[in-house]
Amino acid sequence: MVDAAADRDDLAVEAALRPKDLGEFVGQTRVREQLDLVLRAARARGATADHVLLSGAPGLGKTTLSMIIAAEMGAPIRITSGPAIQHAGDLAAILSSLTEGEVLFLDEIHRMSRPAEEMLYMAMEDFRVDVIVGKGPGATAIPLELPPFTLVGATTRAGLLPPPLRDRFGFTGHMEFYAPAELERVLHRSAGLLGVHTTDEGAAEIAGRSRGTPRIANRLLRRVRDYAQVRADGVVNQESAARALAVYEVDERGLDRLDRAVLLALLKLFGGGPVGLATLAVAVGEERETVEEVAEPFLVREGLLARTPRGRVATPAAWRHLGMEPPQQPAPGGQEGLFGT
Ligand SMILES: Nc1ncnc2c1ncn2[C@@H]1O[C@H](COP(=O)(O)OP(=O)(O)OP(=O)(O)O)[C@@H](O)[C@H]1O
Ligand SMILES: [Mg+2]
Repeated sequence: MVDAAADRDDLAVEAALRPKDLGEFVGQTRVREQLDLVLRAARARGATADHVLLSGAPGLGKTTLSMIIAAEMGAPIRITSGPAIQHAGDLAAILSSLTEGEVLFLDEIHRMSRPAEEMLYMAMEDFRVDVIVGKGPGATAIPLELPPFTLVGATTRAGLLPPPLRDRFGFTGHMEFYAPAELERVLHRSAGLLGVHTTDEGAAEIAGRSRGTPRIANRLLRRVRDYAQVRADGVVNQESAARALAVYEVDERGLDRLDRAVLLALLKLFGGGPVGLATLAVAVGEERETVEEVAEPFLVREGLLARTPRGRVATPAAWRHLGMEPPQQPAPGGQEGLFGT
């Protein structure tokens, strides 16, 4: 599967392909404009930028933007993540070693422990932490002043953040999925950096299968490059892209093997549903979580699958996408009216 977890090679290439400043960052016009104002104003005041929260699906550029924020502010960046901070003490150690103006990037901020979160509230608002010394009734809190810093939090699940934390960010940027034309620009830029000759049609072919996500676009580009190098003349054009992506089982709409397996099971074994998630997962031989978190979000977003109280249901578009006619009769249990006619 092309978009399984990135291997080490992928990570290295990914870093090399990261835009370094706001000007190079493609798309996200709204967030880019908003952030540009926040950073310019802070720079003009000679102040540290306000705390920034970036929310959005994986691979849309949150980590990239956090590095750009530091670069634009001419500040160093410290990178850590929610799961890496188990105890409040871990966070205290990081916070107390920050230098003035430094950017602290906290990835997956929704996965931080509760006590660390509470320490973070005070640090964000008052640039102060209480370090607890000793245990039990004799324990004392020693206040520790922090230099002003900019916290950049990233989350794929903004809804999971407790409101007191969310409210302490001066600015929240919501990252959207990218339009095909934007992904084409991402692809041309990456192709230039990788030294791969790519035609407009080739970029368009890959962009259409990239699920609105630059990380996926870049990954598919590398797979197409491999194919073009081994089986064609090295040029990424419409033909080499389409053939390569067929080999990697990424279809015209960006569905991969797992996505198609889920849809096929839903249609062929369960007549389009409704069927429970657990049953569907067994039918495709995958973990529940894999089906729910890896395959379904994209299928739902594409309007191919619906999650209903009684189970998963295929939409008429799903039948057509797999080259089948949607049933005339509503599925048993009656999904009539759910999609209109
Ligand atoms: N706006 C953009 N322009 C050009 N390239 C981009 C853009 N956004 C992301 N990319 C590319 O996509 C890759 C993934 O981006 P990034 O790591 O910032 O995503 P993320 O939102 O942090 O994902 P995750 O939630 O998985 O951590 C990067 O290597 C970068 O090259
Ligand atoms: Mg990231």
